[in-house]
Formats: sequence, C-alpha cells, structure tokens
Amino acid sequence: MQLVGLILGLTALARIAQLAYEYYSRRWENLLPAIDVEQATADAVETSTATKLLKLSSSAWAGFRRFVVAAKIRESADVVTFHLVPQDGKPLPAFRPGQYVMLGLKIPGQKRTIRRCYSLSSGPSAECYQVTVKQVPEGLASTHLHDKVDVGTPLNVAAPAGSFHLNETSSKPLVMISGGIGITPFLSMLEVTTKQPERRVIFVHSVRNGREHIRKEELQELADTFHQIRIITIYTAPDDCDILGIDYHGSERITVDSLVRLLGSLDAEFYLCGSAAMTKSLTVQLKDWGVPEDSIQSEGFGGATSVPAAPQPVPATTVVSSPAATQVTFQQSHKTVFWHPGMETILELAESHGVPINSVCRSGDCGACRIGILAGCVQYKDSCGDSCEEGSCLPCRAQPVGDLVLNA
Ligand SMILES: Cc1cc2nc3c(=O)[nH]c(=O)nc-3n(C[C@H](O)[C@H](O)[C@H](O)COP(=O)(O)OP(=O)(O)OC[C@H]3O[C@@H](n4cnc5c(N)ncnc54)[C@H](O)[C@@H]3O)c2cc1C
Ligand code: FES
Repeated sequence: MQLVGLILGLTALARIAQLAYEYYSRRWENLLPAIDVEQATADAVETSTATKLLKLSSSAWAGFRRFVVAAKIRESADVVTFHLVPQDGKPLPAFRPGQYVMLGLKIPGQKRTIRRCYSLSSGPSAECYQVTVKQVPEGLASTHLHDKVDVGTPLNVAAPAGSFHLNETSSKPLVMISGGIGITPFLSMLEVTTKQPERRVIFVHSVRNGREHIRKEELQELADTFHQIRIITIYTAPDDCDILGIDYHGSERITVDSLVRLLGSLDAEFYLCGSAAMTKSLTVQLKDWGVPEDSIQSEGFGGATSVPAAPQPVPATTVVSSPAATQVTFQQSHKTVFWHPGMETILELAESHGVPINSVCRSGDCGACRIGILAGCVQYKDSCGDSCEEGSCLPCRAQPVGDLVLNA
C-alpha cells in the first residue's frame, strides 16, 4: 500500500512539473539556455550504379554482395534493425558515418529486383553492417523486410555509398537535425563524434511521441557521458504519458528561427535528414539566413516531395508544343516530349510521359537513375554556375540545356 501511495505521489508530482513547464512556455527552445556555438537500379543499370558505388568506396565491392541477417531487433512498433554479415565471412570495408547501403530485394510478385537505400545505423567500428528500417504504409520493400526477412535470410547488399557523411576533419560545431526515421545516419555519426571531445555537437531529433522515439536511452547515455554532445528532443504529437522536460523538450516543429534562438549563431556545419519535405524546407531557410551552401548537407529519405508524378496519357511519339520549347527525346521509348520551364527534373518529365527510369534516392546520391546522353547536354538543378554535363546524367537532378537525346 505504501508503495502504491509513493507511486501515485510521484506521478502527481511529475504531472505538476509537466503543467508548470507547459505554463512556463510552449516553445521548446525556451526550455534550454542559449548555446554559444562559437564555443562551444533495374538490372540494366546495375553495373553503372555499382561502378559509382565502387568509386565512392575504394575497398568496396562491385554490384551486390551476399549478406545474411544475423540479428533482427525490434526498436518500436514500426521500426526494426537488421544486423547484416557477409556470407563469405571476409572483412567488411570501412564506411563513412552517414553513408547508406542499397539492398536488392527479390520480392514475390515483382518481376524486377527492388532496390532501396538504407543508411548504416551503426558506427564504422561495428563488426557488421546495421540498417534500421521503418515500415511505411503500403511500402513494398519496408513491408517485405519487416514481414519476410528474418535471422538467416540472405540479402543482396551493395557497397556503402553516399556523399551525406560526416566531415571528420572539421572542428567546426556540428548541428545535426533529424525527423523520424531520419535519425539513422546520425546514430552512426554520433558514435564518431564521441571521439572528438573538442567539437561541440547538437543533435535535434524530432519524432511524433515516446512510442516512436527509438534508441532513447542510448542517446541519453551518450549525452550524459560525452559532454560535448547535446541532445534536444521534439515530440510533435506527445502522448499523455510523455512528460515535457523529462521525455522531451518541446512540441514545436524545428524551424531556423527556433534554431537561431537556441544556438545564438548559425556558424556551424549543418546535417539534415528526414523526409524530403523537411530537409528541403530547412535547407531553404538556412540559406536564407546566410548559412553558406557548403555548410549544409542534407539527405531526404523520400515521402511527400519525391513521389513520382502519375503518368499522363500521351501519344506514342512526338508531342506538339511551341517551336521555342526544348525537346527531349527518350530514344529507347520512342518518345519525344517538350520540357516546360518550371519542371523540376528530367526524371519527372520522363515519369509524366510514362518513360521508365529507375530511381532510388531521387536526390543525385545513389546513381541508380544514371542514363546515357546520346546528344545534347544537361545541367544540374541547384548547382552553381552553368556547367553542362555530357556522356551520361542523373535525371533525378538534371535539367536539359537545349534539345536532348537520352538513352532511355
Ligand atoms: C539515401 C537514403 C537512405 C535511406 N535510409 C533509410 C533508413 O535508414 N531507414 C528507412 O526506414 N528508410 C530509409 N530510406 C527510405 C527507403 O529507401 C525506402 O524509400 C523506404 O523504406 C520506403 O520504401 P518502400 O518500398 O517500403 O515504399 P514504397 O513502396 O516505395 O512506397 C510506398 C508509399 O510510401 C510512401 N513513402 C515512400 N518512402 C517514404 C518515406 N521514407 N517516408 C514516408 N513515406 C514514404 C510513398 O510515397 C508511397 O506512397 C532511405 C532512402 C534514401 C534515399
Ligand atoms: S535516383 Fe539516386 S541518383 Fe538519381
């Protein structure tokens, strides 16, 4: 009885503390003192993708390598971590914290190999590769991984790749911002930052609530042990049992305004990972605040802004448009279509006309969409200057410069 009384008393106290916090402020950044940052592919493209991957990691392998699932660990209701070990038992090449692997999945009912990227969620010192997968509603690969892949299942894994990785030589303050499952590359990066005691690290993690907050205790322990690391947790839809000030620091979505209030200065290196919508919006805001482009790295995991456009019915051959419009010919598909100013990428143009092009990351990172340029040249969206690329291109980021003939 005494124990029950004690528990009830503690619960009441916790609730009072929560209400006091809420009364004090709804703004999460007000809950913390300002930080002085100053101080403180289809099988046809498999080869080209593999070649790119190979270039990115010198001791890596070409194409897919056979791995086997050594452990499957449930992190939350819809997130699972897989430990992957190579079937040949040979050593694994090191990777850079933040990089991902591409899985090539044979899924019943699918004619082609389904390729999906997953960030490595362990530090480079781990003896196996780890990937942490969130099951997305009606998601083909994530549902297959959750439901059909178990300890002992073989998996095809491409070598670690990706330009979104920690600059380990920099000593500039590091601000890492993740939304939801976008935490995965940071789990890897954080391990490395524990070896950089002189570098200030702020990790802002936004998630719906405590039920979806994976690795909560592990992260808390990290912040308690390594004083250069500060972790700020945002619950955008906290449950009744989530206690403000104990489980999380606030409910406001991360904006650059709130970061400025929290950090005092934006002189830092920023790493953003989450939905494409989140990373895109924060990148624009940071640039507007004057953060140099080379101080911002971001990786979008897909979702809202990267959903392929539904194919529109078009005639099998040339589409008539104004004579001044740029003409893009997809040679293998026997389609010539017109590029309209305001279109984002050649990939979107192709998809809107039913031209099949493989895509995985849709951000120019994985190389899965690479196709040959037969005539003309392209420029890259969001890149500086007016450089024109010939030979082959990544249509997920490329735009035509004049008339173009593509091998697709
Ligand atoms: C570089 C990179 C690293 C990635 N790392 C991880 C990781 O560590 N962990 C992880 O779980 N995922 C990660 N992803 C996302 C992953 O590759 C898949 O896109 C994701 O698992 C969904 O694939 P699917 O086949 O299950 O869904 P699909 O069948 O492709 O999509 C089904 C539906 O879900 C929507 N959808 C697709 N992707 C998302 C998404 N990410 N969020 C919300 N809705 C979505 C689609 O719009 C569609 O409506 C990463 C992606 C990239 C490009
Ligand atoms: S889809 Fe990954 S580079 Fe284009």
